[in-house]
Parts: sequence; structure tokens; C-alpha cells
Amino acid sequence: MQLQWRVGSMDTWEADCLIFFVVEKEAEFLPGFGKWLRDEGRWLAGCSALSDFQGKPQQTAVFYAPQDRKIPRVICAGLGPREKLDAERLRGGAAAALRQCRELKLARPALPATALDGLPLERSRSLEEALIGGMGGLYRFTALKTRDVDAESFPESLLLFSEVEPDDAFHAAASYAESLVSGISLARDLVVAPGNQVTPTFMAEIAQGLAESYGFRLRLINLQEAEKMGMGAFAAVARGSREPACIIVLEHCPPGMDEDPPIVFVGKGITFDTGGISLKPSAKMEAMKQDMAGAAAVLGAFEVLGRTRFQKRVLGIMPCTENMPDGKAYKPGDVIQSMSGLTVEVISTDAEGRMILCDAITFALQYKPAILLDLATLTGACIVALGNEAAGIMGNRDELVEELCTLGAEVGERLWPLPLWDSYFDYIKSDIADFKNVGERSAGTIVGGIFLKQFVTDETPWAHIDIAGTAWTEKDIASSPKGATGFGVRLLTEVLKRRPKLGWG
Ligand code: BES
Ligand code: ZN
Ligand code: ZN
Repeated sequence: MQLQWRVGSMDTWEADCLIFFVVEKEAEFLPGFGKWLRDEGRWLAGCSALSDFQGKPQQTAVFYAPQDRKIPRVICAGLGPREKLDAERLRGGAAAALRQCRELKLARPALPATALDGLPLERSRSLEEALIGGMGGLYRFTALKTRDVDAESFPESLLLFSEVEPDDAFHAAASYAESLVSGISLARDLVVAPGNQVTPTFMAEIAQGLAESYGFRLRLINLQEAEKMGMGAFAAVARGSREPACIIVLEHCPPGMDEDPPIVFVGKGITFDTGGISLKPSAKMEAMKQDMAGAAAVLGAFEVLGRTRFQKRVLGIMPCTENMPDGKAYKPGDVIQSMSGLTVEVISTDAEGRMILCDAITFALQYKPAILLDLATLTGACIVALGNEAAGIMGNRDELVEELCTLGAEVGERLWPLPLWDSYFDYIKSDIADFKNVGERSAGTIVGGIFLKQFVTDETPWAHIDIAGTAWTEKDIASSPKGATGFGVRLLTEVLKRRPKLGWG
């Protein structure tokens, strides 16, 4: 769906419908809707169906105009009560409105800019959130369906009506929303597509496409090279698969910034996790195609970066491999030497995420990162702790973790902190190696974090984000239909966008 600005007075507006928002239990309509009702929509103003509309969150209603109007219908979307009104509610309302447009097969619905007046967010921010929610909510993955799909896709475009020339902030908000949604859609596509298609080679091809489109530097490290570089932990996992593994290194380096300490994103890219020799039970194993959601979020963030061209040096490091049982697979009891030199006793081959990430982290440190963030579907225990509502976050700087939590809450990708006290290291003490790759059952998510912490130097501000519970949703949520959510794309992008305002080193 495309966005198109249309500048002109209300009486010139022509579209398949107008979208307005309604706050629950409020006597007055929002100012933009009120003005339209007075000046153009008298047919609707007196309609009792409108006063019956309650405006509950994501509730919608369609009102039909008398014949031969330039605006044949109005869609109202509920935002819930004012005291709970926030960006999340607005994204949900916009998503519900546009899904309603799709249901009605409307090609060109319109959102008047004034529909966003009177909300507790700044106008351009409201537009940004409404568009992110609205466009994100329309996402679906139909590439593998050969029948029972609509050939046409509705809406074709969303008209943005404004009575005055929209200012720069409005234009910027709309184009940022478009870029962001394309990054989120890329991440969702990669996570939802199956493991026989999204192999490490496929991930590398996507990275190559991004590098060609946007001028990123790209380095692909294959298994042989990784072994030569001493990445024993990554190689241990990769050796068990017939699919060629790789480590993708994407770099965005604006001219003159070669010496700048980069912001580094590391994403877990297990394109299918069988558990390896510590084989997972077969029930629901198909869900493990999502185990590359961390890497997908990094690729999605690079898609946004390529379109928005932030003036920052940014690196994306994505270790990609399958985790398979095989004659050459690593085994419980094996001791593996990582690139850092530290040795790991393998207790479970199903804790493969931390194995590939620890070498990716050691590799990342060579770039002397200003900040190092890793994203991974690392532990089922994170789902036990937080469900699908928030990702777990751990790190070596409380301020960094706090700021990321605040940022996540603002943009609808909630994070919740877990402690990384040194005493947790006792859980992975080993008799034979420096430490084990798993402990007993308790504190599973923290143990994943404490494992990774062994590889991070104190001078590097680092956070680990466990997205096992947030990468996928079994039900439609505000602006993310059932399936892959693209969680992390917005968070990483906002880190790039806002970092100068934040004080992390
Ligand atoms: N990829 C899984 C974690 C996961 C579970 C992601 C559910 C998304 C949804 C990870 O590699 C894994 O298997 N972790 C083990 C760790 C255990 C062996 C310490 C787990 O969660 O059971
Ligand atoms: Zn696993
Ligand atoms: Zn895994």
C-alpha cells in the first residue's frame, strides 16, 4: 500500500472512505472529526448509529453516506478511554480501520491529518504511529499459497488529506513509517517462511540484496574461514548441518566515519533448531523455523537504515546455521574452544544459540563497539517468565538497560530487565572446562545471559535481548497479525535514530 498526500480544502476531498478516530466515553468528538461533521458530514452528524458507537479499543464502525457523495463512507475506529490513550492504542485503532478497509475491498481510503488533532501525542508522532500501526496491521504472507488467495490487494493506497501544505515533520513522519514498515515486513517474511527456504545461504542473499541496494559493505564468512579464525563454538554447531553455514557481516559506514566506534547489532540466525543430538520433542518443532528471528530483526533494521540513511556507523553480525543431529554434529560432553579462547563443556546441544553468539560477540569486539546489542530467540524459559508480552533484557550497564526498556515501552516493543549477578555463574561451573553451556532448569534465561557475559569486555556497553516470546504471536495483536511480529526492528532503528539524545558512552 502506497501513501499519497492530497492537499486541498475539505469540500474537494474524494476517496472511498474517510477514517476518523473516536475516544471512548467522551462527549465531544475529536476536533478534526467534529469540524468535518459540521462542515461536510451533516448527514452523519445527526445519525443515531454514530452516537451508538462506543469507541472501544480497535472497535470499528462503517457509516454510509446518501448516494452520490464524493465521500461515500466514513470508518470510525475506537481508541478506548482518554486516560489510557497512548501510541499503542492509536496503532491498534489505525490497524483496525485499515483492516476494515481491506475487508470492504476499498482501493483508496483516506486519513485526514486533522483526524489526529486532540490526541495526547504530538501531531507528527501521531501520524507516524497511526501509519506504522495501520500499515503493519495489513501485513500478510501469501508467497507460498497457490490458491484461495485474492489476486488483488486492498487498499492500493492510503490518501493523506491535508487542508494546508503538510510541514517537514509530517512528511518525515510518513516516510519514516513507510521505511520502518518495510523493514518490519522483511523481518516477518524471513521468520514466517519455512526452514527449507530460509537457509543460511538465503539469509546471505538477502544481506547481499541490501548491500547492493543501499551501498552497505558485506562480508560473508563461511564455515572453513570461521574455523580458521578460531570460531570453534560457531563451527561446532555448523558442522552438524549439510546446509552451508555463514556469518553475515553488514556494515553501514557513511563517508569519513571509518574510525568511529560503531553501534553493533548481533542477531541469532539458527534457520532451524532441531536441538541437535539433544533432540527436541517433535510436537511443535515446526515453530523452530523462527529461530533466526534475531538475525531477521537485524536485516530488517538494515533495510530501514538503507532507506533513512542515518549518519552513524552501524554493523550487523549474523551467525547463521541450522542446528541438526548428524554424524558430525557436536555432542553432549564435548569441550569446545571458542574464538575468545574460553572453553565450554557442552551439556545440551540445544543451547546452540549461545554457542554461535559467543563467537559472534568476540568477533564484534574487534570493532570496538560504542554499544553492542544482541537479539536472540535464546530460551524457552523467557516465555515461561514473561509470556509473549515482553522480551527479557540483561546487560552490563544498568543505565543502558533502563533506557532500552523506556524506549521499548514507547515504541510498542516492551522489554523487561532480569539480573545478571555474578552468583549466577555458579550455575554453569564445569569440572572439565571453563564453564558449561547450560545449568539446571532454574533461571534459564539469566543463565543464557550470564554465559554470553563471559565473552563481553567490561568497557563495552552491552545488552542481550531474549526475544523467544515476542518474535511470534499465536493471535492477532494491535498492529501485528498472527505469525511473525518483526520484533526488534523498530527497537534497533529507534536506537540509531535517538542515540545522540541518550548518554550511553
Ligand atoms: N531456540 C530455542 C529457544 C526457543 C524456544 C525459542 C521456544 C523460541 C521458542 C533454544 O535454542 C533452546 O532450545 N533453548 C533451550 C535451552 C536449554 C537447553 C538450556 C530451551 O529453551 O529449552
Ligand atoms: Zn536450541
Ligand atoms: Zn535455538
